[in-house]
Amino acid sequence: INMGSRHFLTLKDLSRKELKKILLRAAQLKEEHKKGVIYQPFIGKVMAMIFEKSSTRTRVSFETGMAQLGGSALFLSPNDTQLGRGECTEDSARVISSMVDIIMMRTFSQRYIENFALHSSVPVINALTDDHHPCQLLADMQAFIELRGDIEGKKVTWIGDGNNMCQTYMHAAGMLDFQLKIGCPRGFEPQETISDELKENVTLVHDPVEAVAGADLVITDTWTSMGQESEKILRKKSFKDFQVNESLMEKSNERSLFMHCLPAYRGEEINDTIMDSGYSAVWLAAENRLHSQKALIEFLLSEKKLK
Ligand code: CP
Ligand code: NVA
Repeated sequence: INMGSRHFLTLKDLSRKELKKILLRAAQLKEEHKKGVIYQPFIGKVMAMIFEKSSTRTRVSFETGMAQLGGSALFLSPNDTQLGRGECTEDSARVISSMVDIIMMRTFSQRYIENFALHSSVPVINALTDDHHPCQLLADMQAFIELRGDIEGKKVTWIGDGNNMCQTYMHAAGMLDFQLKIGCPRGFEPQETISDELKENVTLVHDPVEAVAGADLVITDTWTSMGQESEKILRKKSFKDFQVNESLMEKSNERSLFMHCLPAYRGEEINDTIMDSGYSAVWLAAENRLHSQKALIEFLLSEKKLK
């Protein structure tokens, strides 16, 4: 078991101060990148990217980010590595981490990535599990701050499934001190262990209109997450009143923003009008995956150097 590395398995692996520092740094890296500044502190460093689920944004942003920082990234899928043939987590983590400098992993269970990290000698980043998506929160928070300033004290509404994205928003509410109102269908609530910890910052209702009232930011996500494909028809029925559209957004605050981690299923959880409206910060947040993850990589690799 390795105790030396800092990992990023949930947002709470950072202190509030570290989270704010990374968000500031992300904005700075973005500005410098736009000016054409070349910044390559990690020449020769390699990131292993383990994807057990599909991805567009996560792969492109991490691979591009490592290249811009002077390093490189390696795409690994269970189909063509021994990960998919039953080599145990402990052995895989030990071997992969003996060769690379940092590991990014997208997988199903949170326990699996936690176990992997326990046996990794280098930092492990959660790039989505069934329970959390902390990298997306870095990008969303960077986008909100960029457009509206500090999010502390703001009202944020989550519409939809109480799973990974929602649960990481709950962590963010506690850490950045905003009020999160969750509007989800019955039976799709977030885990109680997370809600119980965050009573001061999080409330839950089952009516989307009530949830969205007075919101400064509205977020939603797909009704059927990766791994839930067999429930697609049932979910479509359960979530039918939870589409984010003009009539719902009208109930939010003036100057409210809309975000979605993407991929979006237009006509289901979101409609075309909102995706491309003045509310939409969707594209900015997607782009910020690149900048905020570069700040995260820099943080984790520099933390390690101090040891
Ligand atoms: N938002 C997000 O993580 O997108 P991908 O699934 O395309 O990586
Ligand atoms: N909730 C979605 C997010 C995809 C980035 C999923 O888990 O599939």
